[in-house]
Amino acid sequence: YMLYNNKLYFSIVQTESLNVYINGEDGRIDWPPVPLYREDGTQNRSNVSAVTALDRNMVVIADCYTEPNYDFSGTKKFDEMNNYRTKSMIVVPLKSFEGEIVGVLQLINKIDKETGEITEFTEFDQEGAKALASQATVSILNARYLQELEKFLDAFMKSLGEVVDAKSPYTGNHVKKVGKFAKMVYQTMGHKRYRNVEVDRDSLRLLEIASWLHDVGKIAVPNHVMDKATKLETVFDRIDAIADRFEIVKRDIEISYLKGEMAENEYIQEIEQLDKDLQFLREINSGDTFMSDDKLERLQQIAKRRYILQGKEVALLRDDEVYNLSIRKGTLTKEEREIIMSHAEMTYKMLEKIPFPKKFEKAKNIASNHHEKLNGKGYPRGLNSEQLSLEDRILAVADVFEALSSADRPYKSPKKLSEIFKILSFMVKDGDIDGDIVRFIFENKIYLDFAKEEMLPEQIDEPKLYF
Ligand SMILES: [Fe+2]
Ligand SMILES: [Fe+2]
Repeated sequence: YMLYNNKLYFSIVQTESLNVYINGEDGRIDWPPVPLYREDGTQNRSNVSAVTALDRNMVVIADCYTEPNYDFSGTKKFDEMNNYRTKSMIVVPLKSFEGEIVGVLQLINKIDKETGEITEFTEFDQEGAKALASQATVSILNARYLQELEKFLDAFMKSLGEVVDAKSPYTGNHVKKVGKFAKMVYQTMGHKRYRNVEVDRDSLRLLEIASWLHDVGKIAVPNHVMDKATKLETVFDRIDAIADRFEIVKRDIEISYLKGEMAENEYIQEIEQLDKDLQFLREINSGDTFMSDDKLERLQQIAKRRYILQGKEVALLRDDEVYNLSIRKGTLTKEEREIIMSHAEMTYKMLEKIPFPKKFEKAKNIASNHHEKLNGKGYPRGLNSEQLSLEDRILAVADVFEALSSADRPYKSPKKLSEIFKILSFMVKDGDIDGDIVRFIFENKIYLDFAKEEMLPEQIDEPKLYF
């Protein structure tokens, strides 16, 4: 019996003569547990196992049927039904070194080796039973510590993933969803015997842990870089500061005009031009417009303008603002892109120092390799296809799939499945991700199961492969 919440649960039952061997491994034996206390709070002293646990002492019985101290009516009923006869018995508490009762060991019906008869347990047997009980207790506690450690590891890794998810309102449940998708792919591979991959509890947990951890390095990436929505965004969007400066310039011009230093048509023209220029800056501040050479040229022209602030002549646009507005595509400068990319390296560095249990050690690599590419052009280590495991590749595909499928910016419409598979196909062609895995996901419609749970109905359409 194992003791949980003051109840003794049957865990292992073996009876040679009845040929019963239930080890309780595949779920607990569903016989009712033996309570240590009755409903009124008094000790359950009619059951011999309960008394053993309560008194923390061994009980030895020569013949249960003539033993007056305990109620063996249940045992007798069992005997009748199974054509058995419970006779001699030793009941030993499983007591830890610190004195905690973890369970009870009950030995029934000693067989005399020579005669084959049921006999009483001797003093020597009692010592043996005690030794067995202490061995069993150590094993149970070891297994329990291991379980606790694994539970701790699980919960801690999961929390780290949740922290990363909580960091960005835009990427929502990225980490959680990547884990879900990767697990779906891997489990299906196990069922379909994809490349003879064997998926068991531990290998699945390995992938799960790796996916919870894969973006943990993002903790070190500043939010305003990670979620940079416009080119001028730092902690706030600097376009508003620029708009204020335009306002000052416009006022200066108005004053000149009122002082009679400027003709009316010139004044009107200047104001109009300023409005147009600011509108232009607002447009190019968004990452959606590609910066052509013409646009860059116009930006340079606007940047040349100067105005008087506190008696000093200053530039209308700061150098850093011009630098950011000059970004050709997207909202990130080269330096910011590098900071974001550094999260993969940071993930690696963080995990490298953690002494994982041996069976989950590979989680470090799987997590750190999610931006590696088969063609060797990935980061942080530029590994190639020979160095990337199946798990690495699954997580890399899951990472891209989730990023494409989620509505990452509130003002952008999320991609449909057909668009996602088109992009994935191009990535396969470029040698970025594993085509066999993408095909496997496609053919087994894993994307559909995921989409039904995690994507919007309008995103679900008929995708195609393009490779
Ligand atoms: Fe990442
Ligand atoms: Fe990711």
